[in-house]
Amino acid sequence: MTQSEHARGLAIEANSVTKTYWMDSGAAVKALDDITVEIAASTVVALMGPSGSGKSTFLQVAGGLTSPDSGTLIVGGQTITGLSRRELTEYRRHLGFVFQRFNLLPALTALDNVIAPVIPQRVAYDKVQRGRELLAAVGLADKARQLPARLSGGEQQRVAIARALIGDPRLILADEPTGNLDTATGATIIELLCSLRDTTGVTIVVGTHDPDTARRCDRRLHLQDGKISQDSPRSINA
Ligand SMILES: Nc1ncnc2c1ncn2[C@@H]1O[C@H](COP(=O)(O)OP(=O)(O)OP(=O)(O)O)[C@@H](O)[C@H]1O
Ligand SMILES: [Mg+2]
Repeated sequence: MTQSEHARGLAIEANSVTKTYWMDSGAAVKALDDITVEIAASTVVALMGPSGSGKSTFLQVAGGLTSPDSGTLIVGGQTITGLSRRELTEYRRHLGFVFQRFNLLPALTALDNVIAPVIPQRVAYDKVQRGRELLAAVGLADKARQLPARLSGGEQQRVAIARALIGDPRLILADEPTGNLDTATGATIIELLCSLRDTTGVTIVVGTHDPDTARRCDRRLHLQDGKISQDSPRSINA
């Protein structure tokens, strides 16, 4: 398969990815232990598993925020293991990140939060117009001038999702995006992510403890002690 064929079919291909953390005691924790997995483009995948099973570590490795000790990781046809620090910074610019804490800048309006990542960049589009379009896409067209403190938790997370989309990513990595939200609001967030996948073809990997969130995804990967313990498509468990 050529690189471009790869990019069309597979969003992520991990081969024997291992990440070890060393404790003060000298003990080793294998946060990711020989993970081999393929994630098809335009799918919404839930990463499940108990606390400490490696969900956040997988998202950080896939996001180029930390490097694995061994193994290879190909994202959108690009081998990201072995990239230099500078190349990883460039790689991350093309990803969307969504976290449990919405990480909005409190002094900026919703619109300015959405466009903040691209303010220092030269881009071919009108940043403000694109920011408004993205706020509309997440159902917040009328909240563009609100400060985060005036928005509900679900609205704040929708602003964070709009912000994640500003660079037109092919991959969104979301770590517990519904973790601070009540069940009903969490459901609307995951439905929003799925509808964004439908309209843009973006691939989304969601770390979550919440079975209701996971149930709405196309596929569930369960981690246990840094290994994949179960891999179930929607048709089996939905
Ligand atoms: N920066 C770090 N330094 C040392 N150990 C770490 C670090 N990050 C994670 N770990 C360890 O790696 C293992 C996996 O952690 P990770 O955060 O990936 O789990 P998780 O599945 O996201 O858990 P949670 O559901 O609690 O968020 C844990 O044993 C954790 O203590
Ligand atoms: Mg975590």
